[in-house]
Amino acid sequence: MNLLIRNGRIIDPLKGIDQVGDLLVIGGKIAEVGAGFKPAPTIVDATGLIVSPGFIDLHCHLRQPGFEEKETIASGTGAAARGGFTTVCCMPNTNPPIDKPEVVGQIRETTIKAAVVRVLPIGCVTVGRSGVKLTRMSQMKAAGVIAFSDDGSPVADSDIMRQALETVKTLGVPIIDHCEDPTLAKDGVMNEGALSVRLGYRGIPAAAEERMVARDIQLARETGGHVHIAHVSTKGSVDLIRRAKKEGIPVTAEVTPHHLTLTEEAVLAHGAQAKVNPPLRAQSDVDALILGLGEGIIDAIATDHAPHTIEDKTGNFARCAFGISGFETALGGLMTLVHSGKMDLTTLISRLTLGPARILNLLNLSGSLQVGAAADITIFDPNAEWTVDPEKFASKGKNTPLAGAKLKGKVLLTVFEGRIVYRDESCHLLLNQAI
Ligand code: DOR
Repeated sequence: MNLLIRNGRIIDPLKGIDQVGDLLVIGGKIAEVGAGFKPAPTIVDATGLIVSPGFIDLHCHLRQPGFEEKETIASGTGAAARGGFTTVCCMPNTNPPIDKPEVVGQIRETTIKAAVVRVLPIGCVTVGRSGVKLTRMSQMKAAGVIAFSDDGSPVADSDIMRQALETVKTLGVPIIDHCEDPTLAKDGVMNEGALSVRLGYRGIPAAAEERMVARDIQLARETGGHVHIAHVSTKGSVDLIRRAKKEGIPVTAEVTPHHLTLTEEAVLAHGAQAKVNPPLRAQSDVDALILGLGEGIIDAIATDHAPHTIEDKTGNFARCAFGISGFETALGGLMTLVHSGKMDLTTLISRLTLGPARILNLLNLSGSLQVGAAADITIFDPNAEWTVDPEKFASKGKNTPLAGAKLKGKVLLTVFEGRIVYRDESCHLLLNQAI
């Protein structure tokens, strides 16, 4: 598809571009950035809007196969497109889990039929995610997985983790670890601290995460395998990763929009809608995460989109499922950091595009607006105000602590490989079919 996007503020962290101008798409690829192009069959007037590389989410849950009542590849990628994501990497805690090349093949088939954006599957580190035996990792890689993780659970056995890192060193992909020492986390349900004591809930201490981060860093140093720390939530983890990066250890990290913008207090206000693993922490942790993201100690923002049914999230808090449906509120939530002066817009875009693309070696495919790359583009209005209504989510997961919140910053148009895959209802004003 040929498309001309006119007069937008084009930001491409890879190329260091931040300019008002036009962007031309030909045959599904970025053709040129500049001005004065001849009209294309479809013209988008992006005056006053930001034109960014399509966002890449390296950590989400699409639930298919096995939990289609929570989400499917069709509904999840529809939600991703609404959130401005053109590439999403889906975690393997499905049923069956993605622990064999055959399951990878099934997901790829479903993706071709049902997905509206690019889906890159993540394979299990261990068979059945049970932590005991490594999967056939090189065959899984050949079948198309982009990384390995037992997300939802850590790789608790240190010897298995060491073997996994040795293996991925030869495969050139990361292990994404859900860092949680199960002997410390036990059956905790929220951050451990004064609030958990007051509410009478079992807490998950910061040390549960930090012990595992420290172990993973040590094993990455020893093996040279790339470890990627999922959903970092504590100041102590940021400090450990900072030191490891200074030493040149192959470690990267991600943080979620909810850990950057909410504290444990959200549990008081929103109950199980704010129950997530790792838990929302204290303000000092949030401040350290924002700082670490700005410095590049944390390389990427990942949603950990975790849709659940209403039943999963209703009733006794301690028994409710962990997780937040995150695709559709990610940008609006994150823009609060920009509007409050805590983060500049280019850094935010970089951590949603270039950061994840580098971690996953995707830059030849997506993550920038360089000429010849896939025309994966997100156009958003940084100042549009809207109220979160989960009933309007494309995701089946209506679980969010942001229901009713007023956000400033809205995705208006998502283009995947040159095709418009999402257009906000207000966006008919922006589109002109040319002569
Ligand atoms: O809150 C979470 N939900 N954290 C995880 O690690 C897993 C996820 C899920 O699968 O629901």
